[in-house]
Amino acid sequence: MSLCIGVPREIFPGEKRVATVPEVVEKLIKLGFKVAIESGAGEHANFSDDTYRAAGAEVVADAPTLWATSDIVFKVRAPSDEEVALLREGGALISFVWPAQHPDLMQKLAARKATVLAIDCLPRLLSRAQKMDALTSMNGISGYRAVIEAANAFGRFFNGQMTAAGKVPPAKVFIAGAGVAGLAAIGTAANLGAIVRANDTRAEVADQVKSLGGEFVKVDYEEDGSGGGGYAKVMSEGFQQAQREMYAKQAREVDIIITTALIPGKPAPKLITAEMVQSMKPGSVIVDMAGEQGGNCELTEPGKAVVKHGVTIIGYTDLPSRLAKQASTAYANNLLRLTEELCKSKDGQINVNMEDDAIRGLTVIKEGAITWPAPPLKQPAPPPAAKPAAEAPVVVKKAQGHGHGGSSEAMPAGKAAVFFGIGAILFWLVGAFAPEAFLGHFTVFVLACFVGYMVVWNVKPALHTPLMSVTNAVSSIIAIGALVQIAPPLSGGGDRPDDLIRWLALGAIVLSTINMFGGFAVTRRMLEMFRK
Ligand code: NAI
Repeated sequence: MSLCIGVPREIFPGEKRVATVPEVVEKLIKLGFKVAIESGAGEHANFSDDTYRAAGAEVVADAPTLWATSDIVFKVRAPSDEEVALLREGGALISFVWPAQHPDLMQKLAARKATVLAIDCLPRLLSRAQKMDALTSMNGISGYRAVIEAANAFGRFFNGQMTAAGKVPPAKVFIAGAGVAGLAAIGTAANLGAIVRANDTRAEVADQVKSLGGEFVKVDYEEDGSGGGGYAKVMSEGFQQAQREMYAKQAREVDIIITTALIPGKPAPKLITAEMVQSMKPGSVIVDMAGEQGGNCELTEPGKAVVKHGVTIIGYTDLPSRLAKQASTAYANNLLRLTEELCKSKDGQINVNMEDDAIRGLTVIKEGAITWPAPPLKQPAPPPAAKPAAEAPVVVKKAQGHGHGGSSEAMPAGKAAVFFGIGAILFWLVGAFAPEAFLGHFTVFVLACFVGYMVVWNVKPALHTPLMSVTNAVSSIIAIGALVQIAPPLSGGGDRPDDLIRWLALGAIVLSTINMFGGFAVTRRMLEMFRK
């Protein structure tokens, strides 16, 4: 019997998101599940009951019926006490839970003999887990929305303008903390035309800031802020002093500050003091995204927008919910990817496989037993590559033997001599015994293999896509064949090609010209993305 996935209406005040959307309902049904949704659950995210019905979901009138008939409940916010009481004994729940902050909730869920997967406990550094990473998708959306909120409260354009009446300078935006949310904010503000500066204690993000169009502002103090696993650590007093001085200078200069600085498990560092707010130009805006963890600005009032010293300080804690349709769609897709992992057999059943690192990390309660926190990952994970829209730029470097796979080590001279010696003998044997025509083709073939090998193996894997497009462009050399066909014979002897062949050759020239110029243009654009 297929299990039923139930999606209740979110009851947290002001929450507009919904845990699944119609396009995902169809895919869940293809995995073999039944889907039920509480009437009106998608209303604030612009998904009507009818669209869910059309996608194949059953629309249930009230929450108690929905919870009672669901084997697995998909939710956004951690459940309230009333919702826990509605959860079926032995049922499953997938939602944000934040077990460290909610020990009581964990006990109550365990008492229901539930199996709970907390989407916030996903081991984010597993590259396989990135498709399920709801924290990243929500924080990326929040970074975008933070800029939109700032633009809404700011009295000027972001981009500079030159009009007949005079010049308007571009807005200057400073972003504190270049994690997921910070990088999304940098990209959005830069796209709106602002001058964007950013700072983070982790020096490794400087390249990502630049690649999104921002300028990385360093603190004049030597200390690395990486606390391991792509997260920050608490900095020394000396660093904090130097950082305060730099932030004070930025506060005097910029129009908008967006703060996203966070250290996991610690209160948010206080980066913007009351004096810094006072020193800002009237009409400036601060968006403090860390409000829920105490705020990065001393004057933030979590959940509110207030004006202090002429500066609007926005401390909203519901930024993803303010883009409910987008956030719901992203979240629903993250849960779909998780469901695919839980139901590999596509038969409407789930297997909470505790041997799987990603599932183990997410599972905070298994059949009533609290299994949180998960043990550390067996294999040390690579540094996070999932920062939004900003993979670390690849520096195109020409290095000796700097390759991939077997060729990365330079071959010792003695071995190389033996290798080439054997090659030369084989070549001589082919030359001595094979027909003459074969030798010409064979030489071209060997050279092509050699060139292909050197090209592919000496290029970093991240550059393979531009490499493919440039080789594709180069392949348009076949245009020469068409040119030969279309041109009249040089000596006047021989036959003129007939019209059909000339028209075909013309078509070939046009197509390969498009391929050639298009290929080079695309390659150029791709390489621009990697350039520092
Ligand atoms: P993240 O952990 O990826 O990034 C935080 C960044 O701050 C890291 O790059 C870290 O190195 C940096 N940082 C830490 N201490 C710093 C310091 N003293 N100075 C400069 N940089 C420092 O987190 P993410 O995903 O970017 O989220 C950022 C914040 O936004 C979090 O506090 C999160 O809770 C909050 N958030 C708020 C929402 C809202 O509705 N207000 C919604 C989503 C996220």
